[in-house]
Amino acid sequence: MAGNLSGQTALITGAASGIGEAVALRFAEEGANVVALDRNTDALAELADRLGDRCAVVMGDCRDSVICDSGVALALEKFGKLDCVIANAGVYDWYKRIDRMSPADLEAAFEEMFRINVLSTLLIARSSAEALRESGGSFIVSCSNASFRAGGGGTLYTASKFALRGVVYQLAYEWAPHVRVNGVAPGGTVTGLSGLDALDSSTRRLDAEGRTVEMVAKASPLGRAAAAEDQAGCYVLLASRRDGKNINGTILINDAGLSTIMR
Ligand SMILES: NC(=O)c1ccc[n+]([C@@H]2O[C@H](COP(=O)([O-])OP(=O)(O)OC[C@H]3O[C@@H](n4cnc5c(N)ncnc54)[C@H](O)[C@@H]3O)[C@@H](O)[C@H]2O)c1
Repeated sequence: MAGNLSGQTALITGAASGIGEAVALRFAEEGANVVALDRNTDALAELADRLGDRCAVVMGDCRDSVICDSGVALALEKFGKLDCVIANAGVYDWYKRIDRMSPADLEAAFEEMFRINVLSTLLIARSSAEALRESGGSFIVSCSNASFRAGGGGTLYTASKFALRGVVYQLAYEWAPHVRVNGVAPGGTVTGLSGLDALDSSTRRLDAEGRTVEMVAKASPLGRAAAAEDQAGCYVLLASRRDGKNINGTILINDAGLSTIMR
């Protein structure tokens, strides 16, 4: 039976781990070819092994416009077109308060957070706009419950994810009717989500923090923290030409009901 994304080619940033990896695997299962972009070269190589011919990889940093351009070029060269881009790479601030940072640390953390979470989304959007327009494709942004509410991270993370909400709405407006633009807003999901070099927290991983995972599960109305695979279906729906064709400028919240009780 043909998959929901049969014949599509998707480019995914941050595809080597967590939600990006789960989406890459699920997209392949649904019949898509995948171009996976990440700076984690070992994990990216493992993903490429798992997906075989259906996968091409770009190893590099998505803050670099040349890397973003080469992801799009690879999709066109290897698979002949680009139907979907998922701007997903992201980092976290572990609730670090800005009033407890020195001015220099705040500036460095801002640069790193906004360059990875926001600028890389703009760069991959810029690189892929023409190819998506040609295919009548779609662009999907990994937002967060922190795109809507306080308390999902610190001020820097929350501000970066609110910014992505603006990116989704503006591009959905500008790129219509040729390209659909949407987002997914996961709540706490057990992945390798990590911190910032600027705050010495880049080796901290969410999935290694038992207490945080427990806290997320306790706070959730469903009493569980999501697995990365729990997020993948939202991306499939938004990318699907059959089921998603009328969805534009929407951010699907997938947080086990947490946002119903958060301030
Ligand atoms: N895990 C959660 O609870 C949660 C909740 C809401 C939103 N999100 C968002 O989901 C997205 C995916 O995060 P995840 O939880 O799967 O984390 P993850 O760390 O497991 O995956 C993120 C991937 O992005 C890559 N990456 C980070 N910076 C990069 C850069 N500059 N260049 C290239 N690759 C880079 C990492 O190497 C990693 O493979 C992020 O945007 C995150 O903010 C996660």
